[in-house]
Formats: sequence, structure tokens, C-alpha cells
Amino acid sequence: MKPLGRTGISVSDMCLGTMTFGNDAWGCDAAESRKLTDAFIEAGGNFIDTADLYAKTVSESILGDILQDHDRDALVVATKCWFPQADPPNARGLSRRHIIAACEDSLRRLKTDYIDLYQFHGPDPYTPLDESLAAMADLIGSGKVRYAGLSNFHGWQVVQANEAAKRSGMTGLISGQYLYNLLRRDIERDILPACQSEGLGVICWSPLASGFLSGKYRGMDKPPEGSRFDQMGKVLLPRFWNEKTVALVERMAAMAEELDESIVAVALAWCLAQPGVTSVIAGASKLSHLEPQIRAAELTLPDAMLTELNEAIPCDKGYPDDWFQVAGKGTFPTEHIREA
Ligand SMILES: NC(=O)c1ccc[n+]([C@@H]2O[C@H](COP(=O)([O-])OP(=O)(O)OC[C@H]3O[C@@H](n4cnc5c(N)ncnc54)[C@H](OP(=O)(O)O)[C@@H]3O)[C@@H](O)[C@H]2O)c1
Repeated sequence: MKPLGRTGISVSDMCLGTMTFGNDAWGCDAAESRKLTDAFIEAGGNFIDTADLYAKTVSESILGDILQDHDRDALVVATKCWFPQADPPNARGLSRRHIIAACEDSLRRLKTDYIDLYQFHGPDPYTPLDESLAAMADLIGSGKVRYAGLSNFHGWQVVQANEAAKRSGMTGLISGQYLYNLLRRDIERDILPACQSEGLGVICWSPLASGFLSGKYRGMDKPPEGSRFDQMGKVLLPRFWNEKTVALVERMAAMAEELDESIVAVALAWCLAQPGVTSVIAGASKLSHLEPQIRAAELTLPDAMLTELNEAIPCDKGYPDDWFQVAGKGTFPTEHIREA
């Protein structure tokens, strides 16, 4: 358990992702979703992430039913708004009107009086941040939401949104939810430092690269027909599947064997070992996926493995980071300079 951002609430290292719940194409039905949630909570997990987007709101409804049979107050339930919920142009984004309507709808589907963490799923180029954050502050004031977070914002937008949050009267944003795994480390460039300097906890999505880092595609030239990678190939193949990533999974398989662990546990343990990361949201479409994920929270990778993994597919921070590494080191005492 760790505190989420600069708050008094603690969340489990592993967060249960529910994007698979009720997803007919590459997810699981309500019965399997219940098994996953029950097992996650039984194993000590308290943090669950959903969104109105997932399975066109069905994920929230399934989770709402499951929550009825658990101690709601022992859990930290997170959801999100931003994606279109209907055709009219005002049923999307981060306008005051949509945030409040979406929150009311999520509360109804989740069958709960409050959302612990309400997150902006993405930035809205049209709505002033002050409007969005004032709406969030009102939801917190009315008791419908406890804390506010964001997802998929640029680093500079994180800072602007947090400033707007503080102007709105709330204590500030508490978390950022981002794509982060061994194959995609883009957030190390600007977003992770922005979250750290603003005091936001970081929650990683797709820590297994949508399943690529489970090792299930080893030895294949292309994903099997009907698999998630096959169905979402346009997005997932360019994002995660290339010679370097295939080679890294082979190295991870050898590491996993040496540790008598799974590739999944190695991948998630790496994420959890990264500075600034609070929790990782792994997804699962069946119960057997969960056990190695839960074990990851207990796994400390040996230093040599951590170093090798850190160096495998690093984030190219580019300019002005490379400029500062040279010019800054000649200008300031080196102990004050963050390593590239
Ligand atoms: N904020 C955002 O924009 C955003 C975006 C995406 C996701 N998310 C959140 O992050 C959560 C996780 O995302 P994700 O599903 O992409 O995460 P992920 O952990 O990268 O991928 C999950 C998939 O990996 C495979 N898998 C997991 N454990 C396995 C195991 N032990 N053995 C073999 N395969 C295994 C399964 O794929 P198969 O089902 O194909 O077997 C599973 O559905 C979502 O549920 C959601 O809450 C947020």
C-alpha cells in the first residue's frame, strides 16, 4: 500500500483494471468479472479503475453489481469521463455540463454514493481548465467525489490543470494515469517529472503492453486470429510489436526462469520499481491472469536485472534534456543535476 499522491488515502500496488469487463470483443463476461474482482479483493487489493467508456458503460454497471457484495468503504474506486457518451456535441469532453452529467451517470451505474477518484480521461482543447476544475471542485464539495485526477495530459497541461485545481478551492489534483511499461517509456521525458514536481501519484495503464509482455506472442510473426492484438492491431502493433520488443521479451523470459517467476511478474515489478510510480493497473480477461500479477507486488528484482531492463529500450529524452546534460553540468554543481 502507498499513499496516492499527497493525500491521506492508501492504495494497493496493483490496481484492478476493468476495461475487459463486459467487453465482448476481447474481454470477459459478468461472471468472470466477478471472479476477478473477488479474487483481487481477497488477495488484499483495494484499488479498482473503470471508466464510462469501457464496454460502452457496461464495465461500470458490472462493477456496480459486484460492489454490492463487498465492503464499499474498504475500496478505492476510480472512474473517468471525457469520451463521447452520446451523439450531441455536449455529451463529451470536460465542460461543466458534461462532467456533472457523466459523474451522475457513473454514480448510478456504480450503485454508490461517491467516487473516490474521478479522472479526466484526456485533455479538452475547447473547455477552459478553470471551468473543468471548478466543476470538479463542486462535485467534491457536494460529496459525490473525494479526489480528482487526470489521464493522458501532456506534462505542461498537468501543471496548468493542477494550478487551476488549486484556484478552484480544492487541494489540487492527486494522480495522473498514463501508458507506461518497459516498451513505452515516453512519460519519463516530461510527464513523470511534472507529476512528481506537482505531487501527483502516477498510475500506469497497460503495464503489460496490452498482453505483449505476458510472453503469449513469443515465436509468432503475427498475433493469432481473434486475439486482442489481432482485433486492435492498427493501434497495438505499431505501439508494441517490433524487433527490439520481441528480443526484450526473450530476455525477460530468461530472467523469469532464473527467478522462478513469470514474465508478467517481471514486467509489473519493473513498473513498480520506477520512481514516482504509485500503482499499476493490470488488465485481465480471465481469473488465471491475476495470480502472477498479484505476485508482482511482492517481487523485488535483483539490481543487475533492474539495470539491464532500464537500459533495454530507454526513453529518448531528446532536446533540451541532452543540451542540459552538457551545458548544465558545466554550469551547476553536478550533484544538483538529474541524470538523463
Ligand atoms: N487511462 C487510459 O487511457 C487507459 C487506457 C487503457 C487502459 N486503462 C486502464 O488500464 C487497465 C489495464 O489496461 P490493459 O488491459 O491494456 O493492461 P495490460 O495489463 O497491459 O494488458 C492486459 C492483458 O494482458 C493479458 N494478460 C494479463 N495477465 C496475463 C497473464 N498472467 N498471462 C497471460 N496474459 C495476461 C490479457 O490479454 P488477453 O485478454 O488478450 O489474454 C489481458 O487482458 C484497464 O483495464 C483500464 O483500467 C486506462
